Amino acid sequence: MHLLIPAAGSGKRMGSSQNKLLLNVLGQPLLSWTVKAALASQSIEWIGILGQPYDFPAFEALLAPLHSPKPVQLITGGETRQQSVFNGMQALPQQAKFVLIHDGARCLATPDLFDRCTEALQHCQGLIAAMPVKDTIKIVNADGWITDTPDRQNLWGAQTPQGFDVALLKACHEKGKQEGWEVTDDAALLEKCGQSVKIVPGEDTNLKITTPVDLAIAEFILGQRLAKSA
Ligand code: CTP
Ligand code: MG
Repeated sequence: MHLLIPAAGSGKRMGSSQNKLLLNVLGQPLLSWTVKAALASQSIEWIGILGQPYDFPAFEALLAPLHSPKPVQLITGGETRQQSVFNGMQALPQQAKFVLIHDGARCLATPDLFDRCTEALQHCQGLIAAMPVKDTIKIVNADGWITDTPDRQNLWGAQTPQGFDVALLKACHEKGKQEGWEVTDDAALLEKCGQSVKIVPGEDTNLKITTPVDLAIAEFILGQRLAKSA
């Protein structure tokens, strides 16, 4: 399985002066934890990391001590996550028939989750890891008034990995570019193109590290895992 890791953001909501993926989590850059999980997954055989060229020296420095036995390629990302994944799709090796896309910011995803997504992709053309939402979700208008409360039973929080047939995702990205669609995950492009996307059970701990409290939670969970494996 080929894996693309979008890592070309800046981390505005983290309020940090550098890419949040380079922030220290238990003594290592956040992105190292994400890459280590992918390296430990049995099914991943090639990794492409989308980044901004000014971050490449830092990416190379964090990759070196991991001594990856799998090819790891740095690819120039774009201005949005969507553009970064578009670039990644162009850079995939020709033999790639399926691809997993996993946010660099989700450093708590386990190797098992990657492998379950790979397995499930043998039975469909598009999937995402997801979990039922815990909060009651409100639809709110621009003036701050609630307009609707959707039934929570039908609501799922989208995570990554997301997995796709390469030709199909490329076609949906092309269409999205032509039509000017702006989306925050790849499944949304398939949905807009009328393609089915399946849910794979995600992980409760598979947070997207977005604000400072998420960093503290990630350190706690990774610390617990290290203690268990010691
Ligand atoms: N990402 C990317 N290219 C971009 C923007 C985001 O590859 N132009 C990546 C991020 O590095 C991250 C993932 O997409 O791993 C999910 O995005 P998000 O959590 O929103 O990260 P940032 O965009 O960096 O954060 P923020 O939105 O707070 O600025
Ligand atoms: Mg963002």
